[in-house]
Order: sequence, then structure tokens, then C-alpha cells
Amino acid sequence: MAQSLKSESIKTSPIDGQKAGTSGLRKPTKVFTSENYLENFIQATLSALGDSLVGSKLVLGGDGRYFCDVAAGRIVEICAGNGVSEVFVGQNGILSTPSVSCVIRKRQLTGGIVLTASHNPGGPDNDFGVKFNVANGGPAPESFTDKIYANTRSIAEYRVAKGASVDLSKLGRTEFTVDGKPFVVEVIDSVADYEELMSSIFDFDRLREFIAGGTGCSVLANPLHGVMGPYVKRLLCQRLGVSESQAVNCVPLPDFGGGHPDPNLTYAAELVNAMRSGSYDLGLAFDGDGDRNMILGKSGFFVTPCDSLAVLAANLECIPYFKRTGVNGFARSMPTSGAVDLVAKRLGLKCYEVPTGWKFFGNLMDAKLISLCGEESFGTGSDHIREKDGLWAALAWLSVLADKRASVEDIVKAHWAEFGRNFYTSLPGVTLTGGGRSYTVASADNFSYKDPVDASVTSNQGVRVVFSDGSRIIYRLSGTGSSGATIRVYIEQYEAAGGNVLADPAETLRPLVEVALSLSRMAELTGRDAPTVIT
Ligand code: G6P
Ligand code: ZN
Repeated sequence: MAQSLKSESIKTSPIDGQKAGTSGLRKPTKVFTSENYLENFIQATLSALGDSLVGSKLVLGGDGRYFCDVAAGRIVEICAGNGVSEVFVGQNGILSTPSVSCVIRKRQLTGGIVLTASHNPGGPDNDFGVKFNVANGGPAPESFTDKIYANTRSIAEYRVAKGASVDLSKLGRTEFTVDGKPFVVEVIDSVADYEELMSSIFDFDRLREFIAGGTGCSVLANPLHGVMGPYVKRLLCQRLGVSESQAVNCVPLPDFGGGHPDPNLTYAAELVNAMRSGSYDLGLAFDGDGDRNMILGKSGFFVTPCDSLAVLAANLECIPYFKRTGVNGFARSMPTSGAVDLVAKRLGLKCYEVPTGWKFFGNLMDAKLISLCGEESFGTGSDHIREKDGLWAALAWLSVLADKRASVEDIVKAHWAEFGRNFYTSLPGVTLTGGGRSYTVASADNFSYKDPVDASVTSNQGVRVVFSDGSRIIYRLSGTGSSGATIRVYIEQYEAAGGNVLADPAETLRPLVEVALSLSRMAELTGRDAPTVIT
């Protein structure tokens, strides 16, 4: 018998600062746990669904960080109080960002709520966040987040049906009635839908033979105690035969073990060091919510996200999915290097340049203009879902390796030899050294984007200075911090095929770095003379 509940209205008032950034609302955990903060934002989000709220079906999950479990329980009750008909929740509240996108699409849901602050550290003294994804599986577009924000400014009550709670550790459906109408909570396996999708995209038999066959590929995966642990165990270990001992830090922890769950050379140093032993062929790290990835080759050879995108673009025929669907085109965010543009040109495909933030790729995918896209911030993905997808990128690389039977390093170097190399670095902050080379400015602007599908315009997306040799310096304000401001500086210099493509990036980019710093008077204006992170 379905338990019968009544909804009620709880008085509240607007709380300042509930405006979503690049990727949802991200704040210090203590802000999120303060009175009505979560409730207000969730009510504002649900109200933004307008007419589609009553009877809607949603998915709810998160990266397992501190407060996810408590928040999930409260959100289910708020959904129940708002006439949502069904909520699918990942077991123990665990769902990666890509799998939320996958679940929305597969089950044709109205949307999904992801509890994560992505790669920001977690815990009571760190960050928490909430993202909302819409029916195509992608992050809510600005028109939607603007509605949420407007709702947070005028909120006077939130609705809740107390008692609509279930044991999130047990799979299965629980039926309630709220004010006489059915309300169902279904706890789903965190990995199953995503696993099914991945096994339809890649040739798992072939990859298993490649990994487990002895002569093939030795993988070392490190999910940094984020959400990807269960996905790595199920797909890489159980399905593809990676040894359990080569999948480390696979238990999601509320504070990610005290680290930054951010897959780059700084925060995934444990993986970098382990790879330097030379015992593994492919090193993989993922961020807290599983949408970012880092790819390393033997002895720690680092594949920049920009190169990773370009190499995959040039080798999509190694992935069965693209053999079926064909390849429509590519896209990258504005600060991402132009390496993928060169592949597009060679293949006679279009390459779109969009502002930072995955949401801008969704329209292009829905309109079948692109199949593959990526960002310099360790995001790579395809039109199989509407989020970037860390494990997808890893499986894509494995597919290329299995096909070419060459090392990661050899594949990347062969790519540079063929297409030339876009030397690239990004640094929030700075130091002034070396130099001696001169550059002529060809153009400078503040990047603005008009969506070719819905004609919406997004402006002030970063100042670009482009030089006559195609080199670029880009200054952009980060949109993912939870407090303060972070300036990102991106530097790119192209070396044509036949040139010195194997040079050291730090050396090669030094003169341009100097230009970037003095041009912006970074040290003088920020008082910062060294970056906090270089990627
Ligand atoms: C998130 C988004 C990415 C975006 C990144 C930018 O990870 O999902 O699409 O590239 O933020 O972060 P930033 O701090 O540079 O705004
Ligand atoms: Zn993320």
C-alpha cells in the first residue's frame, strides 16, 4: 500500500547570491547548510519548470561529497511537495554528471539535479554545489538559469511533503501518494544505465582482449576518491579486465580524502608519479563528478586536453559508434587551442568556437552540427550525451590505442608531425621571466557568441589578443569559483608540421607568457607574481 502524505508550504524569504556560475550554483558548504539555502534554490529551480513541473520525472544524484546524502533526502521531499511524479535516485545518492545526462536521455525525463561542486574540494569547510540539467540531458541554458535566479529573488515559500523519504542504499521503487496523487521514488543502480550506453558505443570484447590479453595495455586509473570509483570498478575492472590493484582511490569519500578531485598534473600528482615508474601504458584520472579526464602515457607523458581532443577527432573511426552515426563536425570552447580546427579542416568538417561552459555544445549536438567537442579544462565528450564525459574519453583513447597498437606518446607525436603542434598553457596568476621574441597584434576583441541554432547571444566571454602568426593570448574570468575571483590566462602558439614540434612547451611559450603578463599588468594589478596552478 502506498503511504499517503500531504504537502505543506513553508514560509521563506529571498537569500542573496543564488546566481549560478559556469556550471550550477557553487558555494562554501557552510553557506549551503545555512537555513533554507538549499530549500530556496531547489524550489526556485523546480518553479522554473513552469507548466512542466506537475507530473514531471526527475533524476537526482551527486558525487558523494559531504552533505550530498542529507541534501538528497530533503530534495526528494521538496519534489514530492511540488507535484513531481517520479524521482530516480542513484543508489546512496551516487551518480556521476555524465550518467545523470545518460539517465535523463534514456528514460526521457524532464530533467535532473546533480549535487556536486565538480573538481572543488569537499567537506564542511570546502564547497558544495547544485546543477540542474534539462530534458536533452545537458546543463540548463542561460534562459533557464536566469529564471531560477529571478525565482530566488522573489521566493516567499517552498513546498514539501514530509515523510517522502526512502532508504537510498536499497535498490527499488517506493510508492507514495501526495495529496492523493501518486509519487514514486526509485533508487537505481548508479552505473547500470551508463554501462549499457558505453557498451553500445565501444567494442568491449576488443578492448577486453587488448587489456587482458597480456601483450596489450596496462592501465592505471585514479578517480581521486570522487564519484568515478564505482564506474571504474564496473567498467574497467569487471568488464574490461583491468586488475583491481590498478584502480586506486576508488571509494568515493565526502572530502575526497582531503585532496582536490581535479585531474591535472598538480592535483593528480599521485597518478603522475606512479606513471613515471614506467610500469603502465595508460594513466587515467577523473574529477569529483566524473566529467573531466586526464590522459597520461607511459612514463607520465602528458596529453594536453587540447591535443587529446584533436587526436580523438582525427581517429574517430576507431570507435564503433561513429562508424554507425558518421561524424557531423567538431566544436571547442574559445580558450581551447586550435589543434582540433586543423583536423576539421583536413576532414572537410566544420569546427565551431563557443564560450566556456559545456551548455553551449548542447544546441549544436541537438541540431546534429557536431559529434565531438572539448575544452582546455580537461573536458572531452561526444553527442552520446549532453555532458562532457571522463570515462568516455578514457574508453575512446583505449579504442585508439587498441586500433593503432602504438603508445600514447607515439600517437600524439605522429599527430604533431602530421598536423603541426599548438603549444598551449593556461595559468591563473603569473611570473615574469625570459623573452626576447616580438609579436605583432593582428586582432583583439572581447569574445561574443551568437548561437547558430537559437540565435541567442552570449557576450563578454574573454579578451582575445591574436597575433599575426596565429598565436593567441586570452584573458578570462573563471566562472566556477565559490568565492573571490580567478583570472585565467591561456597562451597558444602554433608550430607547423616540419617545424620543431617536439620542443619543450615551457621554453617555447616563455616569450608569449612574458608578453601576456606585461600586457595585462598582471603582477602590478593583482599583486600576484606566480600562478596558483599551471595546466
Ligand atoms: C566547468 C564546466 C566546463 C568549463 C569549466 C570552466 O567545469 O563544466 O564546461 O570549461 O567549468 O571553468 P572556469 O573556472 O574556467 O570558469
Ligand atoms: Zn566536473
